[in-house]
Amino acid sequence: AEGDAAKGEKVFRKCKACHMVGEGAENRVGPVLTGVVGREIASAEGFDYSDALKELAAADGTWTPEELGHFLENPKSFASGTKMSFPGLRKEEERADVIAYLASFSGG
Ligand code: HEM
Repeated sequence: AEGDAAKGEKVFRKCKACHMVGEGAENRVGPVLTGVVGREIASAEGFDYSDALKELAAADGTWTPEELGHFLENPKSFASGTKMSFPGLRKEEERADVIAYLASFSGG
């Protein structure tokens, strides 16, 4: 199902403790998420990723919406050893909405 970016902005409140997105965003506890949809996994400049995410990058390449959905549903089960301390979004609609929100930011 297509996500709703406006609803996704609200879901993103759960991510804001660790992530920034949009113009002027910077790495914080987590990597900057501007342009993350379609971006190479574990490639935010200057961010120190876990081996788990680097291995995922070597295996899977880029963050497609589908790949993001799997990661966000249960980060620790999809990328065992990730340092993203977030339990995940169990509701499919929330995942689709936050991915639509993230997709609304292209590079830069
Ligand atoms: C990594 C999204 C919540 C900390 C990532 C990545 C994505 C993401 C897409 C991979 C980025 C890349 O490959 O460059 C989200 C979303 C969240 C969320 C959409 C909310 C639904 C959080 C929270 C924290 C956090 C709450 C901190 C408690 C991190 C860290 C990484 C990461 C540390 C790097 C993981 C590693 O190197 O293993 N996040 N995140 N995230 N996130 Fe989150």
